[in-house]
Amino acid sequence: MDLKNEIKRRRTFAIISHPDAGKTTLTEKLLLIGGAIQVAGAVRSNKIRKTATSDFLEIEKQRGISVSTSVMTLDYNGKRINILDTPGHKDFAEDTYRTLTAVDSVILVVDSVKGVEEQTRKLMEVCRMRATPVMIFINKMDREGKDPFDLLEELEMELKIAVSPFTWPIGNGVSFKGVYNLEKESIQLYAPGKTTLSEMLLNTRDIEDPLLKEHIGEANLVKLWEEIDLADDLFESFNKTLYREGYLAPVFFGSALNNFGIPELFETFLNIAPHPHGGKTAERIVLSEENAFSGFVFKIHANLDPNHRNRMAFLRVCSGKFERNKMYYHTRLNKRMRFSSPASFMANDKNTIEEAFPGDVIGLYDTGNLKIGDTLTDGESLHFTGIPSFSPEILKEVVNKDPLKTKQLEKGVMQLTDEGLAQLFIQQPGNIRIIGTVGELQFDVIKFRLEHEYGAKCDFRALPFVKACWLTSANQQKLIEMIDRRAATIAFDKSNTPVYFAESDWTLKIVKDAHPEVQFHNSSEHHVREEIINDDQE
Ligand code: G4P
Repeated sequence: MDLKNEIKRRRTFAIISHPDAGKTTLTEKLLLIGGAIQVAGAVRSNKIRKTATSDFLEIEKQRGISVSTSVMTLDYNGKRINILDTPGHKDFAEDTYRTLTAVDSVILVVDSVKGVEEQTRKLMEVCRMRATPVMIFINKMDREGKDPFDLLEELEMELKIAVSPFTWPIGNGVSFKGVYNLEKESIQLYAPGKTTLSEMLLNTRDIEDPLLKEHIGEANLVKLWEEIDLADDLFESFNKTLYREGYLAPVFFGSALNNFGIPELFETFLNIAPHPHGGKTAERIVLSEENAFSGFVFKIHANLDPNHRNRMAFLRVCSGKFERNKMYYHTRLNKRMRFSSPASFMANDKNTIEEAFPGDVIGLYDTGNLKIGDTLTDGESLHFTGIPSFSPEILKEVVNKDPLKTKQLEKGVMQLTDEGLAQLFIQQPGNIRIIGTVGELQFDVIKFRLEHEYGAKCDFRALPFVKACWLTSANQQKLIEMIDRRAATIAFDKSNTPVYFAESDWTLKIVKDAHPEVQFHNSSEHHVREEIINDDQE
């Protein structure tokens, strides 16, 4: 098969949700439909147990398992499907954001009882920034949830995206009867436990169908037709271009646990979701169908085997064909590298692959050469952009507890932050190391790993900051003035960009007002992201 056809048949996406909305259950049902797994429960083992909110040892244990489910690849109806897993735990949100840089679309799961939640909002913000196409699955219709009109309006208001219902629910909770498919004009009856479609499909063009009346009831039917008419007036009709540009989200109602509404979701997804795009580099835009290979690293998984200190770098292929044992160019290090055992992730097993195409994610064994954001190419000097760091919410100073192990500590902190576990900022004078994260859990993990992998001991001193803003200015003199004047609240990230730490939104506003020539950014790649958005919208 040629490159173009390989690209066309690929779909690379992530399933995202606020924890507990049903992401794991939905993933598992998609894998069952696709035949990638035979029994339920295979994905669940990847999930960090809810009781383990601060138990990092549990997370350590899970790391081994999660590498095999980081990417789930399956073949279905001639399509090659790559599902990228994202950590459910909110403390690992940064990892999720980075994974979203490697997908072409997402399915967002929303709990019908809870509606839009904190993580739903944050994840959608990232999707909006990258103009990622979104499909929404409203889950748990077997529970007494919110009214569908209220839910859809909430999605539009809070997630700032237009919605287009593809199915419409008939009741909810104990009175949930099924869904009406607006496109096919058919009703699928809900029968908990049943999974075959044919048993439950009814053609509704015949409104007098006694089966309909029997299963749904006359009053429910009247209500359904009224609601459908109203929904038609209130919500956008589907438009593929608007979906592909990230403005319009098709919505499905169902129950992941009962495997209800999922085949329709999957079928529509395969029909409308975009095939792999290339990417933006600092030098030029790369198209997926270009013959020359290129790709970028979006995730590093360290210490697969603690005895060997090896790591796996996850690389998304952006253009051309990747081949095993071929020399590739590592553009940051200006170095050639060959990979003899690149891994793919078919059916939950790690296999060595011979080749990979755009949209594929491959695992590269690495001894420390690869960092998040690194680009590999056939030879051209390219640097993929759009893999930003986002503002951390917790900032702490690293306190060295064993001066004899200072070198080990420095190396450990450098490597762990290269992995993307947390962000590192250096403050002067004194070379003070400040670690920034979105969750407390990372500090436990860092401390534990520094001790066990590097033999270094440290503590963390809490700092009163809640936000970090990357600073730029067209007027370098003004920027330097600000850095001098506010030295106690300014540090530098790994690429030496100045970052301002704010104690509150209020202090941030005051400081912004005091330095009108300086721009404050919420992420490290503000300029690139803005271009990406403009670009994708063309
Ligand atoms: P997550 O990955 O988004 O965190 O969610 P997950 O799939 O683990 O689902 C969270 C809980 O919601 C699980 O129950 C799961 O069984 C349940 N759930 C998922 N889909 C549905 C649905 O359609 N209807 C209902 N009623 N429940 C659903 P749990 O008891 O917390 O975990 P478990 O013991 O089932 O693993």
